[in-house]
Amino acid sequence: MWLLSLTYGLVCVSLVWGRPLEADQDTSVPEEWILVGRADPAEEVELTFALRQQNVDQMKVLLSRLSDPDSAVYGKFLDLADVAQLVQPDRLTQKVVSSWLLRHGVWDCRTVITQDFLQCAMTVEIAETLLPGSRFHRYSREDQFLLRSEFQYSVHEDVSEHLDFVGGLHRFPPRKQEVGKSWSKKRRVAARYHLGVTPAVIRARYNLSASDVGSAANNSQACAQFLEQFYHPADLAEFMSMFGAGFQHHSAVDRVVGTQGVGKAGLEASLDIEYIMSTGANISTWLFTNPGRHESQEPFLQWMVLLSNLTSIPWVHTISYGDDEDSLSNAYMQRINNEFMKAGLRGISMLFASGDSGAGCRHLTKAENSFRPSFPASSPYVTTVGGTSFKNPFKVTHEIVDYISGGGFSNVFDMPEYQASAVNSYLKSMKTLPPTTYFNTSGRAYPDIAALSDNYWIVSNRVPIPWVSGTSASTPVVGGMLSLINDQRFLKGLAPLGFLNPRLYKLQGSGLFDVTEGCHMSCWDEKVSGQGFCAAPSWDPVTGWGTPNYPALLALLLD
Ligand SMILES: *[C@@H]1O[C@H](CO)[C@@H](O)[C@H](O)[C@H]1NC(C)=O
Ligand SMILES: *[C@@H]1O[C@H](CO)[C@@H](O)[C@H](O)[C@H]1NC(C)=O
Ligand SMILES: *[C@@H]1O[C@H](CO)[C@@H](O)[C@H](O)[C@H]1NC(C)=O
Ligand SMILES: *[C@@H]1O[C@H](CO)[C@@H](O)[C@H](O)[C@H]1NC(C)=O
Ligand SMILES: *[C@@H]1O[C@H](CO)[C@@H](O)[C@H](O)[C@H]1NC(C)=O
Repeated sequence: MWLLSLTYGLVCVSLVWGRPLEADQDTSVPEEWILVGRADPAEEVELTFALRQQNVDQMKVLLSRLSDPDSAVYGKFLDLADVAQLVQPDRLTQKVVSSWLLRHGVWDCRTVITQDFLQCAMTVEIAETLLPGSRFHRYSREDQFLLRSEFQYSVHEDVSEHLDFVGGLHRFPPRKQEVGKSWSKKRRVAARYHLGVTPAVIRARYNLSASDVGSAANNSQACAQFLEQFYHPADLAEFMSMFGAGFQHHSAVDRVVGTQGVGKAGLEASLDIEYIMSTGANISTWLFTNPGRHESQEPFLQWMVLLSNLTSIPWVHTISYGDDEDSLSNAYMQRINNEFMKAGLRGISMLFASGDSGAGCRHLTKAENSFRPSFPASSPYVTTVGGTSFKNPFKVTHEIVDYISGGGFSNVFDMPEYQASAVNSYLKSMKTLPPTTYFNTSGRAYPDIAALSDNYWIVSNRVPIPWVSGTSASTPVVGGMLSLINDQRFLKGLAPLGFLNPRLYKLQGSGLFDVTEGCHMSCWDEKVSGQGFCAAPSWDPVTGWGTPNYPALLALLLD
């Protein structure tokens, strides 16, 4: 197939056809997506062009100073206009890219405030000449349709150095996480006798009193969802009337950004919003949901683009979305990582679920496996949240590892300085670790923090449902608590917490309940037989520093 040889192939071919920007991107079609047929040449697609930014190194240095509590500029965050000044592509980049687009008849483009993304509508025919190698097909899953190219795209030699990547060709929505369906038999028996996790249990375990609710006028928090799931306002209202007694709360979302689908609500969508709003209670809450209108759009990327075009957005975002690092191109991950830095410069906290497959497993050859890190959980510029269970299902006390809790070491991002000593002490102190061929000790290690992730009650499609589990539960719980801390900071005239990790690691575990018992899952093979990393005193790659003791953590973060 000539298209494939173009992709992986000869240097001389690339001179003629251009240069691939994402040669390492997995372009295979996930099995649940069915090929419908070739896209009509006259059909419209919308593609996202990520223009090369300026001052990325400077941004990195600035972010580490703004998030370091010992720095003189701690908390002196930028607004979006200042971020734009710093990173916007230089004139040459803008000119080269726009004249390349115009030359191909692409004129219907929209930019963002930071000018580093262009979203352009064009016909399939134009897209395929603009991006040699690409061939668009339509795919379906249940009642959804997508346009994607299974074949690598390239761009003209002259523009390749001005673009990071083009979005809308390869990445499929990540697999639906099996929220609430991932218990083992043993756990199901235990669950039958457990009353389950409700807002009252969360608030009791993490020491939230009835008066620990938001009251600052300008505080806000958000969940972002990209799994073609949506929530019903009536479910949230019913959830709050069942479980919201004893603390002041809101029972409605203040703003939905994007298009909500119709039909059945998803478990995941109900979970996020119900728990961020009962932990971060009485705080204005936004929901970001599939913002794309075109079948070529990537919902996660759309959301990132949107953040660069909104001057005022909530201070805390919780997101339960992830892909295997090895399925994504390096160019894409590096650029999304820059986007997280941009958010951090604005004082925004980004919290990602660490994933529900423990250390994960990648089959390299018949006999060889390794762990499988997940992105964005592995980004050094987000706060990643793992999961725990109650040790005794009858008591609201001691937490141990929830074996699904995602964790491990990135193969893409270097270990950031803020965590080096914590991670190295873990590696040194553990008597037994998984074989070193399974993970990369020089990578960013995650998660950073954790919360309960097991046996939640939610309301979905008007029905109360027990036993919902996953780090998509722990993430909004931690997010809600950070929003409460922001609230107290605002009342004292302080800046929001912003990117938390540098400060979190300096606490060395104070303000948190250390989780020291249990291991998470990984490959089922002779070498590791299902076990990944194990928890240990202080930081570990299963539960991070542990779970929040709210009043203690608040006291440590109020200056
Ligand atoms: C960004 O916002 C401006 C102003 O609201 C709008 O005109 C533009 O189309 C937006 N850009 C994108 C990519 O949506
Ligand atoms: C918080 O909870 C723990 C365990 O439930 C308890 O020992 C402690 O006294 C509580 N209060 C504070 C302020 O830590
Ligand atoms: C709830 O928030 C509002 C402001 O949004 C505030 O006026 C009110 O006092 C808060 N309620 C409590 C119990 O703090
Ligand atoms: C917060 O307050 C500022 C200043 O009053 C205002 O410009 C901004 O829109 C508010 N942000 C949110 C997210 O409510
Ligand atoms: C290990 O991680 C580093 C980045 O921290 C990366 O440069 C290196 O390629 C990774 N090794 C493997 C085998 O993936």
